[in-house]
Amino acid sequence: MPGLSKYVDPMRRKLIAGNWKMHGSLAANAALLNGILAGTDAVTCDVAVCVPAPYLAQCKSLLSGSAVAWGAQDVSMHTSGAYTGEMSAAMIKEFDCRYVIVGHSERRSGHAESNEAVGRKAAQALKAGLTPIVCVGETLVQRESGATAEVVLGQLDTILGAISEQDAARIVLAYEPVWAIGTGKTATPDMAQEVHALIRGKLVERNPAAQSVQVLYGGSMKPDNAGQLMSMPDVDGGLIGGAALKVDDFLAIVRAACAAP
Ligand code: PGA
Repeated sequence: MPGLSKYVDPMRRKLIAGNWKMHGSLAANAALLNGILAGTDAVTCDVAVCVPAPYLAQCKSLLSGSAVAWGAQDVSMHTSGAYTGEMSAAMIKEFDCRYVIVGHSERRSGHAESNEAVGRKAAQALKAGLTPIVCVGETLVQRESGATAEVVLGQLDTILGAISEQDAARIVLAYEPVWAIGTGKTATPDMAQEVHALIRGKLVERNPAAQSVQVLYGGSMKPDNAGQLMSMPDVDGGLIGGAALKVDDFLAIVRAACAAP
């Protein structure tokens, strides 16, 4: 039932992760990151930015020692070899990244990434000591036909099948309804909670320690809806697209996360 969680874990911190997508330049990033740094010196939640790979070195140099972690937006499912254009998890790790997004719906739709591929990417990330932010979510057609639970749990099931039981407690999950990404349409807090509780149930079924996994909501999370979404017991933060590119909006969402129960 929305609003109730069987797995309340007071140790679970909120995480706000920006997904910059293909935006930025050295100059624009420096302004954005310095703005974020100025507003995050005393945060009580986890904060991260997932940036285009060419800017990982810039993040390492500007963010090292701060409260803001950084990461990439995709990783190869292979360890090394003749895969032109791909980046291995070990390469990403060399830039001291903490996170890498895997299975974002824009990768699934634009690059035909299957759940099997997403699972292999998550496994590569974990092997290299990165925390994968694993994205799942249904399309509008799937939601309207009542298939949300089946789709999301099916995605998760295949992905979890590619990683060990232990590793199931070492990931971050992001529930991103495809119809809410970049559209200005957001899942209601109850809609999000309902799916998040299902996701948590599935994770805990694989490994009881996975109650500590942060389950983020993504899809048009903004300063004006972030607080309500994150007041739900199984919404442990957000994966933020558009609003992550504006210092004030991103910091307002970070503040909402720090203030959330
Ligand atoms: P949005 O993007 O916040 O712009 O909807 C979220 C995401 O794609 O991760």
